[in-house]
Order: sequence, then structure tokens, then C-alpha cells
Amino acid sequence: MDIKNVLFAFAGVSMAVLFGYHAYHSANPEWHEYQRTYYEMLAEKMSDPKLASAPLKIDQVWLPTVNNRADRCMTCHKGIGNPLFKDAPQPYTTHPNFFDEENKGTGYMVQHPFAKYGCTVCHEGEPQALQVEKTHGDVHHLDRELLVGSFAQSSCSKCHQNLYAKKAEFPEAETLMAGAKLFKRKGCGACHTAKQMRTKGTAGPELSGWGSKTELAFYLVHNFEHVEGQHTKLQWEWEHFIDPAKITPGTIMPNFRLSDEEANQLTTLVSSFKDDAKEAIPMNYLSSYPEPEAATASK
Ligand code: HEC
Ligand code: HEC
Ligand code: HEC
Ligand code: HEC
Repeated sequence: MDIKNVLFAFAGVSMAVLFGYHAYHSANPEWHEYQRTYYEMLAEKMSDPKLASAPLKIDQVWLPTVNNRADRCMTCHKGIGNPLFKDAPQPYTTHPNFFDEENKGTGYMVQHPFAKYGCTVCHEGEPQALQVEKTHGDVHHLDRELLVGSFAQSSCSKCHQNLYAKKAEFPEAETLMAGAKLFKRKGCGACHTAKQMRTKGTAGPELSGWGSKTELAFYLVHNFEHVEGQHTKLQWEWEHFIDPAKITPGTIMPNFRLSDEEANQLTTLVSSFKDDAKEAIPMNYLSSYPEPEAATASK
């Protein structure tokens, strides 16, 4: 066979393979598999085999809380509000604090119905993507990175704006509140202005809107050269708390010898300092809890 024919035949095969791969993936997107598995689990739990072949569809809610974008996380996280999925693996498991195991009642999460709140208002991430890697994988988002575990507490302040009141009690956001105590104890306000904490220091940058900066906005004006972990805003901040002079050589910000947990608390706190104009949360999503009267009465 002539070399040209070989090449031609080879190209033909590659094209067919590529085309087949592409066709397979458009017909079988990743979320199909997650949803199919969910329905199979549901069928078993309900002892109703018909459920296993429920039609697959994208679950999305339009939310005024995320600048009128669709939030599609529940396409895969389908068991998120279903008590039967309490012990199921991710992404099917029921949300933490949805139930109050001890008191056999509901947890505080039910006050934020998923159909009205979606997920990104607390977790950020890419709301419209339908692939794990794109929605919350190890890709560097230019907008907002997914918040996992206690870091999600940095979003509570978008709506619970009284939480910074003196002596406010907000036990559901323990890490955040511990961060606020630490901020006072370490005297951070001597150098930093933070409206939320009523401080007016000027030796360091203002922190009031820190939590509303996008990854891109942060990336453009920060040096990541000395950051060891992923190049994200939270990681920069966390490592900077552990050792300010390592991340910003020559800084006057002292090394407070913080533990990893204390660095988590402060990172959660500064990320909770939102710019309300940027967040633009509609009035009917705001909460008066914790009550400011209770907070001032015990001053
Ligand atoms: C294509 C399916 C899919 C979509 C869409 C999706 N997830 Fe997930 N999610 C998963 C899977 C699978 C896991 C478990 C494995 C992992 O962490 O990657 C998971 C895990 C998680 C975790 C736990 C991570 C951890 O490290 O413990 C959180 C939080 C989460 N998802 C939030 C979200 C939010 C918020 C959205 C929407 C912005 C979303 N997910 C959209 C499939 C999905
Ligand atoms: C009101 C804020 C809020 C909303 C809305 C919310 N979450 Fe969460 N979520 C949290 C907090 C806070 C935690 C951490 C709880 C803990 O560790 O005690 C969490 C934990 C999780 C976890 C367990 C892994 C982890 O990060 O600790 C998953 C998975 C998750 N959320 C997915 C979702 C999905 C999917 C939605 C939308 C259907 C959603 N969440 C909506 C606040 C929220
Ligand atoms: C998008 C707005 C929004 C976000 C973000 C939000 N909440 Fe809420 N939350 C509400 C609203 C509205 C209520 C309803 C009760 C009310 O009006 O006070 C509520 C109720 C609650 C309650 C019950 C209060 C009571 O009166 O018993 C708790 C506890 C709570 N939220 C904790 C949290 C925590 C912790 C976070 C962060 C992980 C959070 N919320 C994030 C809007 C929000
Ligand atoms: C002696 C003054 C001083 C004290 C005290 C201080 N800082 Fe700083 N801080 C600075 C200076 C100066 C910078 C800017 C240079 C740098 O990156 O370190 C900075 C940077 C920061 C940044 C990064 C801001 C950004 O996006 O560039 C945060 C967040 C921060 N400090 C929080 C804190 C917290 C929380 C405390 C208390 C535990 C604290 N600082 C105590 C002076 C101070």
C-alpha cells in the first residue's frame, strides 16, 4: 500500500473514532450517569422498579440571588433534600443540617428551601456547568471558586447581616463567629478598616468588601509566587495568615502564630465581608436573625 493511502486510511479511522467519541458524549453527558444512578437507588429504596427508568432532565432554578443565573447543581445532587438519602455517597447524600438528628426534627437548612435558594448563594462555584470538573473541579475559575465545608459559612452574611452586631449569637456559623472573636482579640482593626467590625485602621488594606472580589480581580493584584497550594483567593489568604511575610515579603503584618484552624476561622471571616451592592441580594431573602435587639440588650 502506498504511504499516502495508509495515512489516508489512518486519518479516516481517527475521524471515525473522534466522531464516535463526540457523539457518545453528547448523547451521554456526565450528568446522565449521575441521575440514572440516583433513580436506580431511589427505585431500590422505594421498592418500585419503574422509578429506575424515570426520564432524565436538567434540574435548574432561576435565582434572583445569583444575578439572575440558572443554578443547575441539583441535576446531579438529586438526593439533597430527600431523607432517604441520608447515608448515600456524594453527590446523592442529604444536605448536612437538613435534619436535627438529636432532636429528631428539622435542622436550620430547611429555612433555605433549595428551590428558592439553590446552592450557589452559599457555595459559589459555576452554577450552569454540568460537568463535575467544570462546576467544582480543580479548575481555576475566574469568577468564584466552590466553597466547601465551613468555608460556606462566609456566605451567611449576605443575608444575615446582623451577625456582626456586638454579642450577636449565631451558633450555626461557629467557624465564622470564632473568626470574629479572633479578629478582635488579635487587634486586626488597628491596621485594617472593616465596616463589619467597626474598625478604621489604615496601615493595611481595607477589608470591608474583600469577600465579594472575584478570583480574577484578586489574581490581577496579588502575588501568587510563594503560594504552595492551589492558586485561589482562599488559599492565598490562608497561607498569608499562616505566614504573612512568606506570601508578601517585607510586609509589616505580624505573624500571629495561628493554628491551621484559626487560619480557617479568619479566612472564613474576611471572606464574609461582603460588598452588599455587588451581592445585590433581594430584600425578601434577607433575615433579621440573629436579632439585633437581643444583641444590644446584653451589651
Ligand atoms: C455533573 C454532576 C454534578 C454537578 C452539576 C454538581 N456536582 Fe457537586 N458533586 C458531584 C460529585 C460526583 C461529587 C463528589 C465527588 C467530588 O467531590 O468531586 C460532588 C461533590 C460536591 C461537594 C462536596 C465536595 C467536597 O469536597 O466534599 C459540594 C459542596 C458540591 N458538590 C456542591 C455543588 C454545587 C454548589 C454545585 C453547583 C454549582 C454542584 N455541586 C454541581 C457532582 C456534581
Ligand atoms: C444556606 C446556605 C447553603 C445552601 C443554600 C446550600 N448549602 Fe450546602 N452547605 C452549607 C454549609 C454551611 C455546609 C457545611 C456544613 C457543615 O460542614 O456542617 C454545606 C455542606 C454541603 C455539602 C457537604 C460537603 C461539604 O462541603 O461540607 C454538600 C455536598 C453540599 N453542601 C451541597 C449543596 C448543594 C448541592 C446545595 C443546593 C441544592 C447546597 N449545598 C445548598 C450551606 C449551604
Ligand atoms: C440568600 C439569603 C440567605 C443566606 C445566604 C443564608 N440565610 Fe439563613 N435564613 C435566610 C432567611 C430569609 C431565613 C428565614 C427566617 C428569617 O426570616 O429570619 C433564614 C433562616 C435561618 C435560620 C433560622 C433562624 C430562626 O429564626 O430560627 C438559621 C439558623 C440560618 N438561617 C442560618 C444560616 C447560616 C448558618 C447560613 C450560612 C451557611 C445562612 N443561614 C445563609 C436567608 C439566608
Ligand atoms: C501592623 C499592621 C497589621 C496588623 C496588626 C494586621 N495586618 Fe493584615 N495586613 C497588613 C498589611 C500592611 C497588609 C498588606 C501587605 C500584605 O499582603 O501582607 C495586610 C494584608 C492583609 C490581608 C490581605 C488583603 C489583600 O487582599 O491584599 C488580609 C485579609 C489581612 N491583612 C487581614 C488581617 C487580619 C485578620 C489581622 C488580624 C489577625 C491582620 N490582618 C493584622 C497589616 C496588618
